[in-house]
Amino acid sequence: MKLWGGRFSKNTDVLVEEFTSSISFDCRMYKEDIAGSIAHATMLAKCGILEAEEASVIIDGLKDILADIEAGKFSFEVSLEDIHMNIEQRLTERIGAVGGKLHTARSRNDQVALDTHLYLRRELSEIGGLIKNLQQAFLEVAQKHENVIMPGYTHLQRAQPILFAHHMLAYFYMLVRDFDRLNLVYKHTDMMPLGAGALAGTTFPIDRQFVADQLGFGKVYDNSMDAVSDRDYILEFLSFASILMMHLSRISEEIILWSSAEFQFIELDDAHCTGSSIMPQKKNPDVAELVRGKTGRVFGHLMAMLTVTKGLPLAYNKDLQEDKEGLFDTIDTVKFSLTVYASMLKAMKIREENMTDALASDFSNATDMADYLVTKGLPFRQAHAVVGKSVAYAIAQNKVLGDLTLNEFKQFSPLFEADILKAIQVEHCVSARNSFGGTSYTEVGQSFLRAKQYLLDEQIQLDKYTKNVL
Ligand code: ARG
Repeated sequence: MKLWGGRFSKNTDVLVEEFTSSISFDCRMYKEDIAGSIAHATMLAKCGILEAEEASVIIDGLKDILADIEAGKFSFEVSLEDIHMNIEQRLTERIGAVGGKLHTARSRNDQVALDTHLYLRRELSEIGGLIKNLQQAFLEVAQKHENVIMPGYTHLQRAQPILFAHHMLAYFYMLVRDFDRLNLVYKHTDMMPLGAGALAGTTFPIDRQFVADQLGFGKVYDNSMDAVSDRDYILEFLSFASILMMHLSRISEEIILWSSAEFQFIELDDAHCTGSSIMPQKKNPDVAELVRGKTGRVFGHLMAMLTVTKGLPLAYNKDLQEDKEGLFDTIDTVKFSLTVYASMLKAMKIREENMTDALASDFSNATDMADYLVTKGLPFRQAHAVVGKSVAYAIAQNKVLGDLTLNEFKQFSPLFEADILKAIQVEHCVSARNSFGGTSYTEVGQSFLRAKQYLLDEQIQLDKYTKNVL
């Protein structure tokens, strides 16, 4: 008979059993379910709701089940619907009727919420570590090639010369915000729902704070109905993950372009590429492509969960069981992507000369030529027009700006002197962009220092999180 079978006079249709069951995916949360039950039983005894002896038999039974699951000796049953009833049923089989006392003052509605909070909280500290690890990879690559100049792009057209390190650090700083968003998700995940019961609280004299303290939660949910219905922390996680994946997808796009024959700015390590079954010459950037592709499924999970929750009346509805598969898949996708990305970046070869050589044949220094005229007193708008004409002239002559003679420069403005050639050399263009956060060597040097400080701050945060890990 089902744990809830009392009022039923018929067996559940097998199709319905299969359709409503969640054990195939929520079995992942066995550790959290058992930890939550141990904390609950301990609290029940402390509050005099269970005898101390009863609680200790229950707790020992739960620990044995944990050992069985970890040894692969536990078989999960679809007929027992979910992880909560699989474990409770087995507990009663092992220790007898006293096992049935564990569910006093509790419902699966607050139990599943507790498990999911615990599960996600543990994963968040791991994901935080992986973000930091990827930031370290960006920092390492930047540092290894700290003086390399490359074209910077807007509209995917050559724009101004930049340091390759500056480009890498841009990704580092995106991840700083991802880490910040993770902190907010953590804050809302670190809330304890148990004791909400089915929706209205319980008639028993429980101590919710005691349960929260045992499990290291920062806060207890204020409102029992909110506690069992809230999936904001999952939505926030999926939003955080979507933005993070969007960032990885952007760098993927650049990696894919840069490794093409058209750019040849980088070469990915053989260990991080795959070949073609027909074209023997191919070496494809599959990791970057797949990360870009997997971004789609994470966005999808966010949309799915927003849609699941949008029409739901309070409090628990079975629709909420749909929260888990997307959550778990997102956790797996994000962790895998972050991990494989860090190793790919560290092993990729930077073709420094190709990056810098690309600038020899373009007009990336045009803004510097205009800035030169501004320092000689010309209003910027006029300087812009002068340089625009010079560029058109150079293109017609099949030249670049650096090929023009002083006489040719002077045709466009009498303000040009011999020092113009130095002013438009790429090294000068880079070192002159010395405003805070700019691409000059000194500013990028400062940016490295700030990045290292961020990594230290993030470590302090992670140390706080891991204290709460089961
Ligand atoms: N498996 C369920 C879920 O994941 C657990 C809660 C079930 N509660 C209920 N009243 N049927 O949401």
